[in-house]
Amino acid sequence: MCGIVGFTSLDTPAVGPLVNGLRRLEYRGYDSAGVALESADGIRVFKQTGRVAELDKLLAKELPNDERGKYTIGIAHTRWATHGLPTQANAHPHTADGGRLAIVHNGIIENYASLRAGLEKRGVKFASQTDTEVLAHLIAIFDKGDFLSAASEALKRVEGTYGMAAISARHPGEMIVARKGSPLVIGVGEKDIVVASDVSAIVAYTRQVIYLKDGDIACITPEGVEIHSLDNAPVTREVQEVDWDIGAIEKGGYEHFMLKEIYEQPEALANTIRGRLDPSGATAFLSGLSLTPRELAAVRRVVIVGCGTSLHAGMVGKYLFEKLADLPTSPEQAAEFRYSNPIVGPDDWVIAMSQSGETADTLAAVRESIRKGALVSGLCNVVGSTIAREAGRGVYLHAGPEISVASTKAFTAQVTALLMTALKLGRTRRLSFEDGARLVGEIEKIPDVVREILAGNDAIAKVAEKYASAGDMFFIGRGILYPAALEGALKIKEVAYVHAEGYQAAELKHGPIALLSEKTPVVALLADIPGKEKTLGNVQECRARNAPVIGIATKGDDVAAAAVTDALAIPKTSPEIAPIASVVALQLFAYHVARLRGCEIDQPRNLAKSVTVE
Ligand code: G6P
Repeated sequence: MCGIVGFTSLDTPAVGPLVNGLRRLEYRGYDSAGVALESADGIRVFKQTGRVAELDKLLAKELPNDERGKYTIGIAHTRWATHGLPTQANAHPHTADGGRLAIVHNGIIENYASLRAGLEKRGVKFASQTDTEVLAHLIAIFDKGDFLSAASEALKRVEGTYGMAAISARHPGEMIVARKGSPLVIGVGEKDIVVASDVSAIVAYTRQVIYLKDGDIACITPEGVEIHSLDNAPVTREVQEVDWDIGAIEKGGYEHFMLKEIYEQPEALANTIRGRLDPSGATAFLSGLSLTPRELAAVRRVVIVGCGTSLHAGMVGKYLFEKLADLPTSPEQAAEFRYSNPIVGPDDWVIAMSQSGETADTLAAVRESIRKGALVSGLCNVVGSTIAREAGRGVYLHAGPEISVASTKAFTAQVTALLMTALKLGRTRRLSFEDGARLVGEIEKIPDVVREILAGNDAIAKVAEKYASAGDMFFIGRGILYPAALEGALKIKEVAYVHAEGYQAAELKHGPIALLSEKTPVVALLADIPGKEKTLGNVQECRARNAPVIGIATKGDDVAAAAVTDALAIPKTSPEIAPIASVVALQLFAYHVARLRGCEIDQPRNLAKSVTVE
């Protein structure tokens, strides 16, 4: 939620790297953007509502190229509004001290109202409705000549979360950055230092990075980075190397990141699987779990927490864990879980699903579960992310960076990782060698299954064309395909702005069927799983109400093809793989509907990829 960039260099103008960094972070929010630049003459702020492109236009008009060279230090921000409308006044950076201090912030200052009231009593005038501006004024008030101490004192009074960067004309050449609950990474180049909410804004300059931890505050100059705790004790954080490069976050010839990421799935899933299957033991190696067979055998219940697409993957996990490991499993929406005073303890294994590893509600669920003594693991894509670190053990997806706000490859990688986890857990229990060996074979085939579905893209695009103008859609599935129906509905809501609802196939007749007509297409998930015949019965019920039905069915299943209005074929798989296969087809369907409706596919309105507020 909100993206932050900071840049300082011995000789490179800051404005280009700052704006480029913002473009990389736009997935975190895109309702307004701004930069603050420092030179010997003081600080200049430029901000604009709308996307980073609008800010770039403003800079082109107001900051001529020959003036840019003198600004070699600056901070920048792309916003996802929390406090205050997305106006120019509320856009970051915010200033204090008569424009001498500028700050960008990501997160929420929960006690901002009382802090603001106190500051107003002292005569401070506010220019915005944001919580961030409070922090700017507090730092200015505590500034008695040492910028780092001033920021530390201010941050000690703040309740809530922050990733922040500040510059001050009173302390030329210094940038203060700090984090608590919102990510912040420092890239250390030879002549430049880049700070950002995530490494995607850094890898163009360097792959050497320092991940700040909660409670860290750093003073950055072009010469180096000094990290402290808020109590001013020096802290050492190791420099790590990012294991991917800029190519991974470029569109590489695709029109949209979403399409690129859909097409990356065979390779991404091969990476999720690589080195993790053990045919000789008919099980999986998942060393990051750091759990002995004895510890796994002692688990009595699994709870899977997550939000959005990650929650849907977790719901697939329920079927996998219950079927393969005979373990009662509850998928839980992370915010509901954490506020329910959850009943978890040492016999429970809580698995936190998160592509970004930064989702605030999922992180809070992890902390609550750790407090209650449960066994906790993360299942994250972003290496070094907060959830991955705090859970302390887990499975990385290795699906590569996901840029499109709507998640695609992370879902299929999550389900694949859960399947391997369920296999491993199952083999500590009653899953036989033969069944384990069958699954190992099925998992190995996943990349090829996905490849085959992608080869059918044109047929999916054709069907999408037929239904692109629908205002409402239903997605139905049963059993392990019910979460896939939810995910199909979510994708089309997110990227195509079509009102869509995912339902258990059997539940449709208990109310929603009243909404069916020839104008409400129903997407039915008809892959070969137990209960498919029943779903075919539900399809008949829809057609009897004149609703057109799009069936996602196994290639060669003539019965299913004859039952629906339009059939999209997916390869024959075992039931455990069916959600992956079905969702890949639904991702392409949503993508094409969105494209035909002229939507902004990679950055849908009102959304953000990484939701670091509750
Ligand atoms: C946001 C994104 C969704 C994502 C969800 C969970 O709502 O827009 O695409 O599924 O957060 O994100 P996570 O990073 O925890 O998987």
